[in-house]
Amino acid sequence: MENYGELHRAILNNIPDQAWLKDTESRYVLVNEAFIEACGRPEKDIIGSTPDKVWSPELGQVYLDTDRAVLEGGQRRRYEERRPGPHGKLLWFDTVKMPVRDADGSIVGTVGISRDITDLKRTETELRDSRSQLRQLSAWLQSVRESERSRISRELHDELGQLLSGLRLGLNYLETQARALTFGQIDHIGMLKGLVDTTMDAVHRIASDLRPPVLDELGLHAALEWLTESFTQRNALPCELRLNMPDALLGELDAERSTAIFRIVQESLTNASRHGHASRVVVELDALDDHCHLAIADDGCGMDTSRAASGPRLGLLGMRERALMLGGQLSVTSRPGHGTRVSVRIPLRHAVANTAANEASPPCAS
Ligand SMILES: Nc1ncnc2c1ncn2[C@@H]1O[C@H](COP(=O)(O)OP(=O)(O)O)[C@@H](O)[C@H]1O
Ligand SMILES: [Mg+2]
Repeated sequence: MENYGELHRAILNNIPDQAWLKDTESRYVLVNEAFIEACGRPEKDIIGSTPDKVWSPELGQVYLDTDRAVLEGGQRRRYEERRPGPHGKLLWFDTVKMPVRDADGSIVGTVGISRDITDLKRTETELRDSRSQLRQLSAWLQSVRESERSRISRELHDELGQLLSGLRLGLNYLETQARALTFGQIDHIGMLKGLVDTTMDAVHRIASDLRPPVLDELGLHAALEWLTESFTQRNALPCELRLNMPDALLGELDAERSTAIFRIVQESLTNASRHGHASRVVVELDALDDHCHLAIADDGCGMDTSRAASGPRLGLLGMRERALMLGGQLSVTSRPGHGTRVSVRIPLRHAVANTAANEASPPCAS
Protein backbone atom coordinates (compact mmCIF):
# COMPACT_ATOMS: atom_id res chain seq x y z
CA MET A 1 0.00 0.00 0.00
CA GLU A 2 1.14 3.54 -0.68
CA ASN A 3 2.55 5.74 2.08
CA TYR A 4 0.14 7.44 4.41
CA GLY A 5 1.15 10.89 5.46
CA GLU A 6 0.56 13.24 8.37
CA LEU A 7 -2.94 14.11 7.19
CA HIS A 8 -4.13 10.54 7.51
CA ARG A 9 -2.44 10.23 10.86
CA ALA A 10 -4.08 13.46 12.08
CA ILE A 11 -7.49 12.24 10.97
CA LEU A 12 -6.99 8.87 12.65
CA ASN A 13 -5.74 10.45 15.86
CA ASN A 14 -8.84 12.56 16.07
CA ILE A 15 -10.93 9.42 16.33
CA PRO A 16 -11.32 8.59 20.01
CA ASP A 17 -11.79 4.91 19.11
CA GLN A 18 -8.95 2.56 18.19
CA ALA A 19 -8.38 2.71 14.44
CA TRP A 20 -5.94 0.94 12.13
CA LEU A 21 -5.13 0.16 8.57
CA LYS A 22 -3.64 -3.15 7.42
CA ASP A 23 -2.38 -4.46 4.11
CA THR A 24 -3.63 -7.67 2.51
CA GLU A 25 -1.11 -9.66 4.58
CA SER A 26 -2.65 -8.28 7.79
CA ARG A 27 0.41 -6.12 8.48
CA TYR A 28 -0.36 -2.88 10.27
CA VAL A 29 0.26 0.07 7.99
CA LEU A 30 -1.15 2.86 10.12
CA VAL A 31 -2.51 2.95 13.67
CA ASN A 32 -3.82 5.80 15.78
CA GLU A 33 -2.86 6.86 19.31
CA ALA A 34 -5.82 5.08 20.91
CA PHE A 35 -4.70 1.84 19.28
CA ILE A 36 -1.08 2.28 20.43
CA GLU A 37 -2.28 2.93 23.99
CA ALA A 38 -4.62 -0.09 23.89
CA CYS A 39 -1.99 -2.59 22.80
CA GLY A 40 0.70 -1.10 25.03
CA ARG A 41 3.53 -1.30 22.48
CA PRO A 42 5.55 1.41 20.76
CA GLU A 43 4.42 2.31 17.26
CA LYS A 44 7.62 1.04 15.66
CA ASP A 45 6.88 -2.49 16.99
CA ILE A 46 3.38 -2.38 15.54
CA ILE A 47 3.86 -1.03 12.03
CA GLY A 48 4.79 -3.87 9.68
CA SER A 49 3.80 -6.53 12.23
CA THR A 50 0.80 -8.86 12.09
CA PRO A 51 -1.81 -9.08 14.91
CA ASP A 52 -0.38 -12.33 16.32
CA LYS A 53 2.88 -10.42 17.10
CA VAL A 54 1.13 -7.37 18.52
CA TRP A 55 -1.62 -9.02 20.61
CA SER A 56 -1.59 -12.39 22.37
CA PRO A 57 -1.20 -15.36 19.98
CA GLU A 58 -4.84 -16.42 20.58
CA LEU A 59 -6.33 -12.98 19.94
CA GLY A 60 -3.91 -12.49 17.05
CA GLN A 61 -5.12 -15.68 15.39
CA VAL A 62 -8.75 -14.59 15.67
CA TYR A 63 -7.86 -11.21 14.12
CA LEU A 64 -5.97 -12.87 11.29
CA ASP A 65 -8.98 -15.07 10.60
CA THR A 66 -11.42 -12.18 10.56
CA ASP A 67 -9.07 -10.15 8.33
CA ARG A 68 -9.06 -13.04 5.90
CA ALA A 69 -12.85 -13.27 6.00
CA VAL A 70 -13.15 -9.55 5.18
CA LEU A 71 -10.56 -9.78 2.39
CA GLU A 72 -12.15 -12.86 0.84
CA GLY A 73 -15.76 -11.78 1.28
CA GLY A 74 -15.12 -8.15 0.36
CA GLN A 75 -17.78 -7.23 2.93
CA ARG A 76 -17.87 -5.06 6.01
CA ARG A 77 -18.03 -7.03 9.25
CA ARG A 78 -19.08 -5.98 12.69
CA TYR A 79 -18.40 -7.80 15.95
CA GLU A 80 -18.64 -7.33 19.64
CA GLU A 81 -15.58 -8.64 21.41
CA ARG A 82 -14.17 -8.87 24.88
CA ARG A 83 -10.44 -8.30 25.33
CA PRO A 84 -7.98 -6.59 27.66
CA GLY A 85 -8.00 -2.78 27.49
CA PRO A 86 -5.05 -0.41 28.05
CA HIS A 87 -4.63 -1.39 31.72
CA GLY A 88 -5.14 -5.11 31.28
CA LYS A 89 -8.79 -4.92 32.40
CA LEU A 90 -11.24 -6.95 30.31
CA LEU A 91 -13.39 -4.57 28.29
CA TRP A 92 -16.10 -4.88 25.64
CA PHE A 93 -15.46 -3.48 22.17
CA ASP A 94 -17.66 -2.93 19.17
CA THR A 95 -15.40 -3.54 16.17
CA VAL A 96 -15.99 -2.80 12.52
CA LYS A 97 -13.68 -4.04 9.79
CA MET A 98 -14.01 -3.31 6.12
CA PRO A 99 -12.01 -3.80 2.94
CA VAL A 100 -10.01 -0.90 1.44
CA ARG A 101 -10.06 -0.71 -2.35
CA ASP A 102 -7.84 1.11 -4.83
CA ALA A 103 -9.05 3.15 -7.80
CA ASP A 104 -9.67 -0.07 -9.80
CA GLY A 105 -11.80 -1.54 -7.05
CA SER A 106 -9.21 -4.17 -6.05
CA ILE A 107 -8.92 -4.82 -2.36
CA VAL A 108 -5.58 -3.52 -1.07
CA GLY A 109 -6.08 -3.96 2.66
CA THR A 110 -8.48 -3.56 5.56
CA VAL A 111 -9.43 -0.73 7.84
CA GLY A 112 -10.84 -1.20 11.30
CA ILE A 113 -12.31 0.77 14.18
CA SER A 114 -12.86 -0.57 17.68
CA ARG A 115 -15.01 1.28 20.19
CA ASP A 116 -15.03 0.67 23.93
CA ILE A 117 -18.66 -0.20 24.78
CA THR A 118 -18.02 -1.53 28.28
CA ASP A 119 -20.21 1.14 29.92
CA LEU A 120 -22.96 0.52 27.40
CA LYS A 121 -22.78 -3.23 28.05
CA ARG A 122 -22.91 -2.65 31.80
CA THR A 123 -25.92 -0.37 31.42
CA GLU A 124 -27.57 -2.94 29.17
CA THR A 125 -27.01 -5.66 31.77
CA GLU A 126 -28.30 -3.42 34.56
CA LEU A 127 -31.34 -2.53 32.50
CA ARG A 128 -32.03 -6.19 31.72
CA ASP A 129 -31.63 -7.14 35.39
CA SER A 130 -33.84 -4.32 36.51
CA ARG A 131 -36.50 -5.26 33.93
CA SER A 132 -36.45 -8.83 35.09
CA GLN A 133 -36.75 -7.69 38.74
CA LEU A 134 -39.68 -5.47 37.82
CA ARG A 135 -41.31 -8.37 36.01
CA GLN A 136 -40.87 -10.59 39.07
CA LEU A 137 -42.28 -7.86 41.27
CA SER A 138 -45.23 -7.43 38.94
CA ALA A 139 -45.86 -11.19 38.92
CA TRP A 140 -45.74 -11.24 42.69
CA LEU A 141 -48.10 -8.24 42.95
CA GLN A 142 -50.52 -9.86 40.53
CA SER A 143 -50.60 -13.07 42.55
CA VAL A 144 -50.97 -11.18 45.85
CA ARG A 145 -53.76 -9.13 44.33
CA GLU A 146 -55.48 -12.25 43.05
CA SER A 147 -55.35 -14.04 46.41
CA GLU A 148 -56.46 -10.88 48.20
CA ARG A 149 -59.41 -10.62 45.80
CA SER A 150 -60.26 -14.27 46.50
CA ARG A 151 -60.17 -13.67 50.24
CA ILE A 152 -62.34 -10.52 50.10
CA SER A 153 -64.73 -12.24 47.71
CA ARG A 154 -65.07 -15.24 50.04
CA GLU A 155 -65.61 -13.05 53.09
CA LEU A 156 -68.15 -10.88 51.32
CA HIS A 157 -69.99 -13.93 50.14
CA ASP A 158 -69.80 -15.96 53.34
CA GLU A 159 -69.87 -13.36 56.13
CA LEU A 160 -71.98 -10.64 54.63
CA GLY A 161 -74.12 -13.17 52.76
CA GLN A 162 -74.85 -15.01 56.03
CA LEU A 163 -75.69 -11.82 57.90
CA LEU A 164 -78.04 -10.66 55.15
CA SER A 165 -79.72 -14.07 55.09
CA GLY A 166 -80.25 -13.72 58.85
CA LEU A 167 -81.75 -10.29 58.33
CA ARG A 168 -84.03 -11.65 55.60
CA LEU A 169 -85.22 -14.47 57.88
CA GLY A 170 -85.88 -11.94 60.64
CA LEU A 171 -88.03 -9.85 58.29
CA ASN A 172 -89.88 -12.97 57.14
CA TYR A 173 -90.63 -13.75 60.76
CA LEU A 174 -91.87 -10.22 61.43
CA GLU A 175 -94.17 -10.51 58.45
CA THR A 176 -95.77 -13.60 59.96
CA GLN A 177 -96.76 -11.45 62.95
CA ALA A 178 -99.11 -9.47 60.74
CA ARG A 179 -101.93 -9.43 63.26
CA ALA A 180 -99.84 -7.35 65.67
CA LEU A 181 -98.74 -4.92 62.94
CA THR A 182 -100.29 -1.91 61.26
CA PHE A 183 -100.61 -1.75 57.46
CA GLY A 184 -97.88 0.87 57.42
CA GLN A 185 -95.52 -1.43 59.31
CA ILE A 186 -96.27 -4.35 56.96
CA ASP A 187 -95.51 -2.14 53.97
CA HIS A 188 -92.30 -1.06 55.64
CA ILE A 189 -91.26 -4.67 56.21
CA GLY A 190 -91.95 -5.42 52.53
CA MET A 191 -89.79 -2.47 51.54
CA LEU A 192 -86.96 -3.65 53.87
CA LYS A 193 -87.17 -7.16 52.42
CA GLY A 194 -86.74 -5.68 48.93
CA LEU A 195 -83.76 -3.68 50.14
CA VAL A 196 -82.14 -6.76 51.70
CA ASP A 197 -82.68 -8.73 48.47
CA THR A 198 -81.09 -5.97 46.39
CA THR A 199 -78.18 -5.81 48.81
CA MET A 200 -77.75 -9.59 48.67
CA ASP A 201 -77.68 -9.42 44.86
CA ALA A 202 -75.13 -6.60 45.02
CA VAL A 203 -72.94 -8.57 47.45
CA HIS A 204 -73.03 -11.61 45.15
CA ARG A 205 -72.23 -9.49 42.14
CA ILE A 206 -69.33 -7.69 43.82
CA ALA A 207 -67.97 -10.98 45.22
CA SER A 208 -68.18 -12.58 41.77
CA ASP A 209 -66.54 -9.64 40.10
CA LEU A 210 -63.68 -9.75 42.57
CA ARG A 211 -63.00 -13.42 41.92
CA PRO A 212 -65.72 -15.48 40.27
CA PRO A 213 -66.14 -18.68 42.31
CA VAL A 214 -66.95 -20.48 39.07
CA LEU A 215 -63.29 -20.09 38.01
CA ASP A 216 -62.07 -22.03 41.03
CA GLU A 217 -64.97 -24.43 41.25
CA LEU A 218 -65.82 -25.26 37.63
CA GLY A 219 -62.76 -24.12 35.69
CA LEU A 220 -61.95 -21.79 32.82
CA HIS A 221 -64.56 -23.04 30.34
CA ALA A 222 -67.46 -22.33 32.70
CA ALA A 223 -65.86 -19.11 33.91
CA LEU A 224 -65.50 -17.74 30.36
CA GLU A 225 -69.11 -18.68 29.61
CA TRP A 226 -70.24 -16.92 32.77
CA LEU A 227 -68.10 -13.88 31.97
CA THR A 228 -69.26 -13.46 28.36
CA GLU A 229 -72.90 -14.07 29.25
CA SER A 230 -72.95 -11.66 32.18
CA PHE A 231 -71.04 -9.13 30.07
CA THR A 232 -73.64 -9.39 27.29
CA GLN A 233 -76.44 -8.89 29.80
CA ARG A 234 -74.90 -6.03 31.72
CA ASN A 235 -73.65 -4.05 28.75
CA ALA A 236 -76.27 -4.95 26.17
CA LEU A 237 -73.33 -5.76 23.92
CA PRO A 238 -73.41 -9.19 22.22
CA CYS A 239 -70.35 -11.21 23.02
CA GLU A 240 -69.68 -14.48 21.23
CA LEU A 241 -67.45 -17.10 22.80
CA ARG A 242 -65.70 -19.53 20.44
CA LEU A 243 -63.97 -22.16 22.52
CA ASN A 244 -62.06 -24.31 20.05
CA MET A 245 -59.77 -25.76 22.67
CA PRO A 246 -60.57 -29.33 23.81
CA ASP A 247 -61.92 -29.47 27.36
CA ALA A 248 -59.16 -31.92 28.28
CA LEU A 249 -56.54 -29.29 27.44
CA LEU A 250 -58.50 -26.55 29.14
CA GLY A 251 -58.67 -28.71 32.26
CA GLU A 252 -54.89 -29.14 32.20
CA LEU A 253 -54.23 -25.40 32.38
CA ASP A 254 -52.83 -24.45 35.77
CA ALA A 255 -54.48 -21.83 37.98
CA GLU A 256 -52.00 -19.13 36.89
CA ARG A 257 -52.82 -19.60 33.21
CA SER A 258 -56.56 -19.86 33.76
CA THR A 259 -56.54 -16.71 35.87
CA ALA A 260 -54.41 -14.82 33.33
CA ILE A 261 -56.68 -15.78 30.42
CA PHE A 262 -59.78 -14.93 32.41
CA ARG A 263 -58.42 -11.52 33.48
CA ILE A 264 -57.22 -10.65 29.97
CA VAL A 265 -60.66 -11.44 28.54
CA GLN A 266 -62.31 -9.48 31.35
CA GLU A 267 -60.17 -6.37 30.79
CA SER A 268 -60.52 -6.58 26.99
CA LEU A 269 -64.31 -6.84 27.23
CA THR A 270 -64.43 -3.84 29.55
CA ASN A 271 -62.24 -1.87 27.11
CA ALA A 272 -64.38 -2.89 24.13
CA SER A 273 -67.44 -1.54 25.87
CA ARG A 274 -66.00 1.46 27.72
CA HIS A 275 -63.59 2.81 25.09
CA GLY A 276 -64.52 1.06 21.84
CA HIS A 277 -68.31 1.52 22.17
CA ALA A 278 -68.42 -1.68 20.14
CA SER A 279 -71.60 -3.36 18.94
CA ARG A 280 -70.15 -6.86 18.93
CA VAL A 281 -67.22 -8.72 20.51
CA VAL A 282 -65.84 -12.16 19.67
CA VAL A 283 -63.68 -14.09 22.13
CA GLU A 284 -61.77 -17.02 20.67
CA LEU A 285 -59.60 -19.58 22.40
CA ASP A 286 -57.60 -22.19 20.45
CA ALA A 287 -54.77 -24.58 21.15
CA LEU A 288 -51.98 -24.90 18.60
CA ASP A 289 -48.32 -25.94 18.78
CA ASP A 290 -48.35 -26.38 22.56
CA HIS A 291 -49.68 -22.84 23.00
CA CYS A 292 -53.08 -21.44 23.69
CA HIS A 293 -54.10 -18.65 21.38
CA LEU A 294 -56.57 -16.17 22.69
CA ALA A 295 -58.11 -13.34 20.70
CA ILE A 296 -60.64 -10.73 21.71
CA ALA A 297 -61.87 -8.73 18.74
CA ASP A 298 -64.35 -5.87 18.81
CA ASP A 299 -65.86 -3.77 16.02
CA GLY A 300 -65.60 -0.52 17.98
CA CYS A 301 -63.94 2.80 17.27
CA GLY A 302 -60.39 1.43 17.53
CA MET A 303 -57.40 3.45 18.66
CA ASP A 304 -53.96 4.65 17.79
CA THR A 305 -51.93 1.84 19.41
CA SER A 306 -48.72 3.88 19.67
CA ARG A 307 -50.51 6.46 21.80
CA ALA A 308 -52.47 3.97 23.93
CA ALA A 309 -49.22 2.14 24.84
CA SER A 310 -47.42 5.30 25.94
CA GLY A 311 -50.16 6.61 28.22
CA PRO A 312 -50.35 6.18 31.97
CA ARG A 313 -53.08 3.51 31.62
CA LEU A 314 -52.47 0.16 33.21
CA GLY A 315 -55.07 -2.13 31.64
CA LEU A 316 -53.18 -3.00 28.45
CA LEU A 317 -49.88 -2.96 30.32
CA GLY A 318 -51.24 -5.36 32.97
CA MET A 319 -52.54 -7.73 30.29
CA ARG A 320 -49.16 -7.73 28.54
CA GLU A 321 -47.36 -8.36 31.83
CA ARG A 322 -49.63 -11.31 32.58
CA ALA A 323 -48.80 -12.87 29.21
CA LEU A 324 -45.05 -12.19 29.56
CA MET A 325 -45.02 -13.62 33.09
CA LEU A 326 -46.14 -16.95 31.63
CA GLY A 327 -43.60 -16.89 28.82
CA GLY A 328 -46.17 -15.63 26.32
CA GLN A 329 -46.81 -12.55 24.22
CA LEU A 330 -49.63 -10.09 23.76
CA SER A 331 -50.22 -7.79 20.84
CA VAL A 332 -52.90 -5.24 20.11
CA THR A 333 -53.93 -4.54 16.54
CA SER A 334 -56.13 -1.55 16.09
CA ARG A 335 -56.72 1.46 13.89
CA PRO A 336 -59.05 4.37 14.55
CA GLY A 337 -62.42 3.42 13.08
CA HIS A 338 -61.50 -0.24 12.49
CA GLY A 339 -62.04 -2.04 15.78
CA THR A 340 -59.51 -3.59 18.13
CA ARG A 341 -58.06 -7.06 18.38
CA VAL A 342 -56.09 -8.27 21.39
CA SER A 343 -54.10 -11.42 20.56
CA VAL A 344 -52.38 -13.51 23.17
CA ARG A 345 -50.14 -16.55 22.85
CA ILE A 346 -49.25 -18.44 26.02
CA PRO A 347 -47.39 -21.76 26.32
CA LEU A 348 -49.75 -24.46 27.60
CA ARG A 349 -47.19 -25.60 30.14
CA HIS A 350 -44.32 -24.14 32.12
CA ALA A 351 -41.06 -23.93 30.17
CA VAL A 352 -38.36 -26.12 31.79
CA ALA A 353 -35.63 -23.48 31.90
CA ASN A 354 -35.21 -20.03 30.53
CA THR A 355 -31.70 -19.57 29.19
CA ALA A 356 -32.57 -17.02 26.53
CA ALA A 357 -31.35 -14.21 28.74
CA ASN A 358 -27.82 -15.60 28.82
CA GLU A 359 -26.14 -14.10 25.82
CA ALA A 360 -23.36 -16.06 24.20
CA SER A 361 -20.11 -14.14 23.76
CA PRO A 362 -19.65 -13.10 20.16
CA PRO A 363 -16.33 -13.74 18.36
CA CYS A 364 -13.42 -11.34 18.61
CA ALA A 365 -12.02 -9.23 15.82
CA SER A 366 -9.39 -6.53 15.58
N1 LIG B 1 -61.07 -1.95 22.69
C1 LIG B 1 -60.67 -0.67 22.66
N2 LIG B 1 -61.22 0.20 21.76
C2 LIG B 1 -60.84 1.50 21.70
N3 LIG B 1 -59.87 2.02 22.49
C3 LIG B 1 -59.28 1.21 23.40
C4 LIG B 1 -59.64 -0.16 23.53
N4 LIG B 1 -58.87 -0.71 24.48
C5 LIG B 1 -58.08 0.27 24.94
N5 LIG B 1 -58.33 1.44 24.29
C6 LIG B 1 -57.62 2.73 24.47
O1 LIG B 1 -56.40 2.45 25.14
C7 LIG B 1 -56.33 3.16 26.37
C8 LIG B 1 -55.64 2.31 27.40
O2 LIG B 1 -56.44 1.22 27.81
P1 LIG B 1 -56.19 0.56 29.21
O3 LIG B 1 -54.71 0.34 29.32
O4 LIG B 1 -57.06 -0.62 29.35
O5 LIG B 1 -56.55 1.69 30.25
P2 LIG B 1 -57.96 2.22 30.78
O6 LIG B 1 -59.01 1.21 30.39
O7 LIG B 1 -57.75 2.33 32.25
O8 LIG B 1 -58.16 3.56 30.11
C9 LIG B 1 -57.76 3.50 26.70
O9 LIG B 1 -57.84 4.65 27.50
C10 LIG B 1 -58.38 3.69 25.33
O10 LIG B 1 -58.11 4.99 24.86
MG1 LIG C 1 -58.91 -0.76 30.51
